[in-house]
Amino acid sequence: MRKGILSIGAAAAVLTLGLTACGGESGDTSAQSTDAASAAPAKAGKVGVILPDSKSSARWETADRKYLEEAFKAAGVEYDIQNAQGDKTQFQTIADQMITDGATVLMIVNLDSGTGKAVLDKAQSQGVATIDYDRLTLGGSASYYVSFDNTKVGTLQGEGLVKCLTDKKADKPIVAELNGSPTDNNATLFKNGYDGVLQPKYDSGEYVKGPDQSVPEWDNTQAGTIFEQMLTQEPKIAGVLAANDGLGNAAIAVLKKQKLNGKVPVTGQDATVQGLQNILAGDQCMTVYKAIKKEADAAAQLAVALAKGEKPAASGSVKDTESGRDVPSVLLDPQAIFFDSVKDVVADGFVSKEELCTGEFAAKCTEAGIG
Ligand code: BGC
Repeated sequence: MRKGILSIGAAAAVLTLGLTACGGESGDTSAQSTDAASAAPAKAGKVGVILPDSKSSARWETADRKYLEEAFKAAGVEYDIQNAQGDKTQFQTIADQMITDGATVLMIVNLDSGTGKAVLDKAQSQGVATIDYDRLTLGGSASYYVSFDNTKVGTLQGEGLVKCLTDKKADKPIVAELNGSPTDNNATLFKNGYDGVLQPKYDSGEYVKGPDQSVPEWDNTQAGTIFEQMLTQEPKIAGVLAANDGLGNAAIAVLKKQKLNGKVPVTGQDATVQGLQNILAGDQCMTVYKAIKKEADAAAQLAVALAKGEKPAASGSVKDTESGRDVPSVLLDPQAIFFDSVKDVVADGFVSKEELCTGEFAAKCTEAGIG
C-alpha cells in the first residue's frame, strides 16, 4: 500500500539530488549564443529562509538554522534566515521584507498550507524562486520540496511502539495517539505511517484503540493538557504514540505525576537532546532521527543553484494531494533510535556527548555505549 508511485502518503524512495545547470529552458535544443567563458560571472542573488517557530521542536533553531547557515557560508552566497515564531501575519511580513531586500530565492517552512500558499504565490509573481523546506504546502506553487520520507517516519514510530510494547509483554494494550498539528501536512503523513502499523492491531483486537487527538500547532503545553485529559478519561493507557519529542515529553511529564513513566512506552521524533535524555532515562521508548544536516545541505544546494540563475534538477517528485501537481523533490531517509542506538546520533555529530551526558545522564551514557 505504501509502495509504488511517489505520492504524498506513499513511501517514497530515498532520492538523490542531481544538480544540472541548464543554460536555457529544458527542451530548448537551440544552442545558446552567449560565450560563457568570456562572460563575467553574474553575482548570485540572495536566499531568504523563513523558519516556523522555536517552540514546536528544538530542531528549527538548534539544527536547521545552524546547518543552513553553514551551507550558505560554504557556498559564499548571501542569505537571511528568520523565524516567524508561529505568527502567520509576521510570516508574510518577513517574506515581503526579504524580497524587498533583494532575495531571489525564498525557502519556507509553512505554518499552514493556506498562509504558506499566499507567501509562495506572491513571491513567484515577483520572479522569486521558491522551495518548500520540510513541509509541503498543499495547493502551493513551490518549485521544489526538500524533506524526509515522512510516511516512513510514522511507520518507524508505529513499529517502534510495537517493539517497546512487545518488550514489556503488554497484553491488549490501550494505545493513545497524540498527533501533530492538523494544519501540518507532515503530521498527516506521520499519522498515515503509524496508523498503517497500529490499525491492523486494533482491528485484530491485539491492541485497543484509545484516545486519538491532534495537538494544534504542535503546542507542547496544550499537548500536556490534552494528554492529562486522555489519562483521566482512560487511566489504563499502556502506550503513547506521540508524534514528536516535544509532545512525547509533555506526555511523560503527565505520566510522571502518576508514577507511570517508564511503564508506559512513549514515542517521539527529532532526536532532540531532551528526547534522547528521556530515552536514556527509560521514560521514552524511541525517537526518529532525521539527519537534518543532509536536509539542509540538499535544500541549500538547490537554493544556491537557483540564486545563481541555474535550473537545478531534483531527481524525484512528490504529488501534491490537493492540486495533483508533481513537485520536484528530494526526500531523505529517517532512522529509528532506541536506547542502544542513541550513540548513533552522537556519532553522526547531531548532538554532542557534552550536551547529552550531563549530570544524572553521565552514567546512562556509559551504559548506552556513548563514550
Ligand atoms: C517536522 C518535525 C517537527 C514538527 C514540529 C514537522 O513538520 O517535520 O520535525 O517536530 O514539524 O515543529
